[in-house]
Amino acid sequence: MSIVAPSLLAANFLKLEDECKMVNASEAEWLHLDVMDGQFVPNISFGIPVIEHVRKATTKFCDVHLMIETPENLVSAFKKAGADSIIIHYEVCANLHRNIQQIKELGMKAAVAINPHTPIFMLDDILADLHHVLIMTVNPGFGGQEFIPHSLKKVEKLRRMIDERKLDVLIEVDGGITVENAQSLVNAGADVLVAGNTVFSSADPKETIKKLKACSR
Ligand code: DX5
Ligand code: ZN
Repeated sequence: MSIVAPSLLAANFLKLEDECKMVNASEAEWLHLDVMDGQFVPNISFGIPVIEHVRKATTKFCDVHLMIETPENLVSAFKKAGADSIIIHYEVCANLHRNIQQIKELGMKAAVAINPHTPIFMLDDILADLHHVLIMTVNPGFGGQEFIPHSLKKVEKLRRMIDERKLDVLIEVDGGITVENAQSLVNAGADVLVAGNTVFSSADPKETIKKLKACSR
């Protein structure tokens, strides 16, 4: 069984409470929250005040994906807002090890995301410190984009690296995940499936979550 993390970016923002209730009643374990700054990515989404409210409405593990520059300035504010885990991008962190320790010291699970152009081997010396790795399977910034097929190879490589070292690190995939391609990602080694449009634009979101969850190795 996979861990499913519906991405709230694709929800109806006028009905966030109802959308949270739908996820609460579903088999999803995580709720994925995409924060964008208009600098690191060419889009702006939502931030701390919205997450504070979502926290009150959700019973799920809040996985906060920071697509922002200088995330270290805001991780403690996101902790206060209710984050259970924080994902920071490899591409913006000159002091990644320090930033990961900061997240852990605040009592959250720490994760690193890598863009489609960033090779897996860049994680070599940080992997053992992480709770999960997020492999971007589209370029970050927008929901509803098409899955980049080369990502599958990256998932396989990372799976091998984690297994060879007997580490307990989860692999999360994010972007363009569908009911059709989810199983191939899980076969390649993914543990956590982020899904925005696939869940929230489907006729029966809870049933779609169930289908994603049923993917297993
Ligand atoms: C994109 C975000 C994703 C996005 C995925 O930058 O990180 O989490 O919400 O959306 P879908 O599943 O629609 O591709
Ligand atoms: Zn995301």
